[in-house]
Amino acid sequence: MKMNIETPALVIDYGKTIRNIKEMQALANKSGKRLRPHAKTHKIPYLAHLQINEGAVGICAQKVSEAEVFAKSGINDILISNEVLGEKKIRKIFELINLGNKISVAVDSHIGIRELETIGKEYSNYVEVLVDVDVGMNRCGVNVNDNNSLEKIVDSLKNSPHVLFKGFMGYDGHTANIKDLKLRAEAVEKGYQDILKIKRLFEKKGLHADIVSVGGTPSASLWALKEEINELQPGTYVFYDIHQVELGVTDIDHISAYVLSQVISRAEDRVVLDVGYKGITIEQGIYPTVVSHKWLAVKSMSEEHTVLKGSPLPDYEEKVQLIPYHVCPTIDLWDEAILVNNDKVITSLKIEARGKKL
Ligand SMILES: Cc1ncc(COP(=O)(O)O)c(C=O)c1O
Repeated sequence: MKMNIETPALVIDYGKTIRNIKEMQALANKSGKRLRPHAKTHKIPYLAHLQINEGAVGICAQKVSEAEVFAKSGINDILISNEVLGEKKIRKIFELINLGNKISVAVDSHIGIRELETIGKEYSNYVEVLVDVDVGMNRCGVNVNDNNSLEKIVDSLKNSPHVLFKGFMGYDGHTANIKDLKLRAEAVEKGYQDILKIKRLFEKKGLHADIVSVGGTPSASLWALKEEINELQPGTYVFYDIHQVELGVTDIDHISAYVLSQVISRAEDRVVLDVGYKGITIEQGIYPTVVSHKWLAVKSMSEEHTVLKGSPLPDYEEKVQLIPYHVCPTIDLWDEAILVNNDKVITSLKIEARGKKL
């Protein structure tokens, strides 16, 4: 490791990141879909602008506070791919819209639509909404068999002039737990059929969708094959992580974000690094992977320390690269990341949209 980076540090490799961005854009272009990357993975305006420059139509944000940061950075087509309830947050959405931004938001209940309508009326403006469909994850989204909720959503959309129906979205996080590609494809197909059923029901009621926005990194290539899907919203692909490698979605060489640490203590059977789980997450009980010294494994972690075992053990001050199982929560732990290219430090990037509350 030639670079002189103070440890611990979150490091982003520019060359690999831009390759990831271009490859996902190429997949979307090839299948004639719009790409709207989920910016909750990186939370960095500079990277969102790289994604837009390569052809993305806008971005997704998961929280109003994230949308605000990206809008201020000049990205003005943002889908908040999450249900938003609560006056303060909805006011913020309309303030952003009144500034000329195109902010759309997910809804899955007539209550959500009513809140948007009540505040939208005050602002004399409208917000575009995508009806969130539960495509099998059993998180947010209206269920295809829940006729009562579907009827109420249709009625309230028709009676809410400040809420404009634009289409549907669906997020299939459950398919990220299906290793077998054939089974993952079947789960995606099932979710697609649910979207189509709801889409047909809305069409009968005179509500026609312009946008059907779906998917994450492990399923993007599967959704890309579906005719009535026109937008993909993967996020993790910008950096990838060990989970994506395990799923067979990518290889380890595509992983473009890592935590750099150094050895601060040694014993006969172990070394100790200067970063713990306050700098790199343990996900579902799975420790980070050591990539710079592949023969080493994490033995234990505490807040500011990681203990490694294996042989040969690295020396004092030797730099060690760690990759998390799931990259998104690790990025959110840091205020800034060091951007490097070809083993040279380029700049530091503020993780501007992290840690906000709204
Ligand atoms: C609504 C929504 N869309 C898209 C994504 C991106 O998925 P992935 O991280 O698999 O790329 C997520 C991730 O949590 C999400 O919640």
